[in-house]
Amino acid sequence: MPELCLLCWAVLLGLGHACPEPCDCGQKYSFQIADCAYRDLEAVPPGFPANVTTLSLSANRLPALPGGAFDEVPLLQSLWLAHNEIRTVAAGALAPLGNLKSLDLSHNVISDFAWSDLHNLSALQLLKMDSNELTFIPRDAFRSLRALRSLQINHNRLHSLAEGTFTPLTALSHLQINDNPFDCTCGIVWLKTWALATAVSIPEQENIACSSPHVLKGTPLSRLPPLPCSAPSVQLTYQPNQDGAELRPGFVLALHCDVDGQPAPQLHWHIQTPGGTVEITSPNVGVDGHVPPGAPAASGKPRFQAFANGSLLIPDFGKMEEGTYSCLATNELGSAESSVNVALATPGDGGEDALGHRFRGKTADGKGCYTVDNEVQPSGPEDNVVIIYLSRAGSPEAAVAAGVDPEQQPPGLLLLGPSLLLLFLAFF
Ligand SMILES: *[C@@H]1O[C@H](CO)[C@@H](O)[C@H](O)[C@H]1NC(C)=O
Ligand SMILES: *[C@@H]1O[C@H](CO)[C@@H](O)[C@H](O)[C@H]1NC(C)=O
Ligand SMILES: *[C@@H]1O[C@H](CO)[C@@H](O)[C@H](O)[C@H]1NC(C)=O
Repeated sequence: MPELCLLCWAVLLGLGHACPEPCDCGQKYSFQIADCAYRDLEAVPPGFPANVTTLSLSANRLPALPGGAFDEVPLLQSLWLAHNEIRTVAAGALAPLGNLKSLDLSHNVISDFAWSDLHNLSALQLLKMDSNELTFIPRDAFRSLRALRSLQINHNRLHSLAEGTFTPLTALSHLQINDNPFDCTCGIVWLKTWALATAVSIPEQENIACSSPHVLKGTPLSRLPPLPCSAPSVQLTYQPNQDGAELRPGFVLALHCDVDGQPAPQLHWHIQTPGGTVEITSPNVGVDGHVPPGAPAASGKPRFQAFANGSLLIPDFGKMEEGTYSCLATNELGSAESSVNVALATPGDGGEDALGHRFRGKTADGKGCYTVDNEVQPSGPEDNVVIIYLSRAGSPEAAVAAGVDPEQQPPGLLLLGPSLLLLFLAFF
């Protein structure tokens, strides 16, 4: 029983002298060192003394660092893992190492890294992750690394970096980000500006270059020409309204979100109705108003039709469609939002809109004419002008179905304040 005897020896020698068989352990000054470099290891071996402060596993064949890989050695200050075959660093592998000052993960193939583990490494001074396959770094990845002096993320596959990524690194003096395939769009312009202004030393500036778009390929970031970039702005507007006009049941409400911004912002609708919240990433329909074939949603015309041109059509607008309609535009430089509250009322009656604001209606000269209680305050920023217009598309069928001539009275709407829309519905 050789295993048993090994155990006997370990007990006889005492835990203090324990060292994994392939490694050399020793002490130098106040450091307890474990050297396991160049051993062809495919996993972190077990059996380290708990007071190891320096561990070298460089130049082995480790394929991954699983959670808990270093639980035996919580006092580690230096961890050398360069030149392995590490693809994945799992959550919980590095987080327990709250005393770590130096971490070298360079020359691996890391594409999957548990960035949240870095939030616990507040003592870290050196982080080498160069020559890996990282494609992305979360904006808050370095938020706890207030002691970090040197960061090396060169020779990866980073296409972009979020503005503010390096802001928490108040002790940083050396940064290597060269040889990444940067996508020189508006989202990277901040990096050029920051790199020119910062006191951090950033070597190899000529190799911090664009790999796309094609016309800028090879251009160093420092010589990036000015790009036409602007944060989104949105406007909700409406066609000339016709105060007092009455609408037929089943009319189509059309909101239009007019968006500016470079690059072209992504549009998103957020709709709060009595029945619940609806989120729509625009567009959800093709130009014909139908769900494109192959889309997961049920085919046909959805309840809310968001078109690529920024229009939102709500066929069969009724009580269930009352509520708050918000249009959100986002691009690399930011986002902007505009909202409108839509409430339906019957002429002569008062009521409450979806937000609980009370309003009164009264009829004068046979036309719809409405007053609103003083306490009604349109919600939303005053400068959010909302584009709203009422489309007649769809309304003829509805009106015909209701037995009236669609041409007789055009649909209209009354806009109260910049963001409260009251619609008056005529029942025949
Ligand atoms: C680590 O622990 C062993 C035994 O427990 C002891 O002999 C050694 O001196 C310790 N090393 C350091 C650096 O404290
Ligand atoms: C973070 O580090 C401390 C030691 O500094 C440790 O006690 C704690 O368990 C670590 N947190 C996690 C989530 O591992
Ligand atoms: C957007 O497209 C829809 C469908 O083609 C159309 O009904 C609507 O009028 C368009 N909006 C604008 C502002 O052109």
